[in-house]
Amino acid sequence: MTLKSTDFETVEVTTDLLIIGGGMASCGATVEAAYWAKKNNIKVTVVDKAAMDRSGAVAMGLSALNQYVGMKAKGRSPADYVNYVRQDLMGVSREDLVFDIARHVDGTVHLLEKWGLPIWTDADGNYVFEGAWQLMINGESYKIIVAEAAKNAMAELGDAGEIYERVFITEPLMDGDKVAGAVGFSTRENKFYVFKAKAVFCAMGGAVHVFKPRSTGEGFGRSWYPPFNSGSSVYFMMKAGAEHTCQEVRFIPVRFKDAYGPVGAWFLLFKSRATTALGGEYMVENRAELDKWAPYGLVKPIPANLRNWLMMMDTSTGKGPAYMRTEEAIKAIVDSEPDPKAQKKRLKEVESEAWEDFLDMTISQAILWAGTNTAPEEKPSELQACDPYFIGSHSGASGAWLSGPEDLQTAESKADYFWGYNRMATTKGLFAAGDASGASSHKFSDGSHAEGRIAAKAAIAYIVDNNTQPNVDAGQIEATKKVTLQATDVFAESCEQTTDPDINENYIIPEQYMYRLQKIMDEYAGGVIANFSTNKPLMDIGLELLTFLQEDSEKLAARDLHELLRAHECLHRTMQAQTHIRTMYAREETRWPGYYFRADTPKMDDANWLKFINIKLENGEFKMIDRKIHTIC
Ligand code: FAD
Ligand code: ADX
Repeated sequence: MTLKSTDFETVEVTTDLLIIGGGMASCGATVEAAYWAKKNNIKVTVVDKAAMDRSGAVAMGLSALNQYVGMKAKGRSPADYVNYVRQDLMGVSREDLVFDIARHVDGTVHLLEKWGLPIWTDADGNYVFEGAWQLMINGESYKIIVAEAAKNAMAELGDAGEIYERVFITEPLMDGDKVAGAVGFSTRENKFYVFKAKAVFCAMGGAVHVFKPRSTGEGFGRSWYPPFNSGSSVYFMMKAGAEHTCQEVRFIPVRFKDAYGPVGAWFLLFKSRATTALGGEYMVENRAELDKWAPYGLVKPIPANLRNWLMMMDTSTGKGPAYMRTEEAIKAIVDSEPDPKAQKKRLKEVESEAWEDFLDMTISQAILWAGTNTAPEEKPSELQACDPYFIGSHSGASGAWLSGPEDLQTAESKADYFWGYNRMATTKGLFAAGDASGASSHKFSDGSHAEGRIAAKAAIAYIVDNNTQPNVDAGQIEATKKVTLQATDVFAESCEQTTDPDINENYIIPEQYMYRLQKIMDEYAGGVIANFSTNKPLMDIGLELLTFLQEDSEKLAARDLHELLRAHECLHRTMQAQTHIRTMYAREETRWPGYYFRADTPKMDDANWLKFINIKLENGEFKMIDRKIHTIC
């Protein structure tokens, strides 16, 4: 039987706060929301496309908590962290948001530890730092621990706390300029869901596979960023009218080649060097280049995009491959022990820490080491720049333009950065955190959890102040149901017309659509094949091709629930592609070489471009908006 939209039952859920996504930010939001909801008699509903125990970027586990300010342990202040983020993002960040997370993140780390997350400690019981701001963890079960705490908090609410797993959110519901809920469908049963809510918290992560990945064919799907996050945050919030920021600030991590193992432990904890085959230590040999990117290029740590750039200077001129010199680093650690017996013991310890770093968070890299007979103490491993990703919580910055906290505003920043509720988007009642919140990079897993808590507390305050259920008319539900399910009907109508259902002139299957999107982005928007470079004429073509693609999206076809999910992932990725090209296009300079390079405007230009370039949808048209950068500390 071919699946059709008429096979779907409509399930309606009315709630007060709707939390969309079940990742780090949402788990933080859930814990906090449950606490305030209980005091205020408020209902909370959480929806995740997957199972919270292993959903999102932390699915495989992690090996470090990448944001720990250490206010007590190190005597540092949130302003120190703001300084680090400002420099790393080449001067472009929302300092109020970064400060706000930094002042709360240590508390979140202590909660994570209380819930059972093992954080490494030394012989004196102090946390083991990976680098200046990162703590080492045994993080294989990190996500399970965090999800368990969220579920326990919801259980405290009884009937007023509901969790829906394996429900993919497709579209927002609106009541005029106010968000009114969301619709989606079950990825397991023929059910169309309508969630009506007084406030919505959105944290559906960032986006991958907008660009062509390096691994295709048999390795397809293997990328640094998890394949599950497909731009739903930007799609949902743009469709709800919310302004977005830093959509040009993609992230390109340099990682262990092919399986994308993390490099932080090697560079920071093991103090490894990276070299290229013909060019030597690129961070030393190519250092003079940093002067061109002053003042940001001259700080420590050197911004992540510039670290990439110095490597790319070698690899793009044929001096590769690049290597992480694991064998050298391990030898140096072992040799630092004077006694041969102690050296043997130290070697075993470092070997085990090296493997654990991968087993905790990128198991595939450990498998690749095993499969290629790689003993890290004997031979170096190849490093490579990945394809571009959208992850505002890490070293990229894309996400929604959100209100900051009132108490951190200066006389100048208040009018631009504050509109009533912390972490509320420019759409009323819509809140966000984690990858979905822009210009507040380097919050990582624990900072995203902290930001989720901040946003949920404000969302409950918003509900207390605006405690009426928004209006959603039947016409809007019918229209969003049609959009959500139409790919099933497109398939059903024409699938009999060819012998191979993958090939049919009346429709496009999601896989083919995705390849087409990725080819456009790869070639015209500075993907791997274009050496991460683009220019205005290239982007003009890219935008034109995206318009044609968008027209064909009407013809996306889905033969089953899984393909229906794939179809919507395609639509969501297309929104990410649109906002990305348009923002790179508007910014007529190159500010983040190593992430992307505009060959027609190859220099950084602080005089004209030290500002945010924002984007929103207005009456179905993209509108660009300039916003000021305010220094708050
Ligand atoms: P996620 O945790 O990714 O959650 C997104 C959620 O949205 C998921 O539950 C997903 O299922 C759901 N979702 C997506 N689309 C839909 C939809 N349409 N409908 C419903 N639900 C949807 N941080 C560290 O602190 N330390 C590290 O060592 C570290 N290593 C990392 C390694 C990798 C490979 C990556 C990718 C990230 C790493 N990070 C690390 C960063 C950290 O994982 C992120 O900062 C954090 O997960 C962001 O939280 P989030 O809630 O925004 O997104
Ligand atoms: S992770 O996301 O997969 O954990 P990774 O392990 O590479 O990333 O990096 C973890 C942290 O170390 C991040 O905060 C990153 O910015 C930082 N980091 C990695 N390499 C360096 C480096 N060479 N210098 C300074 N900071 C670094």
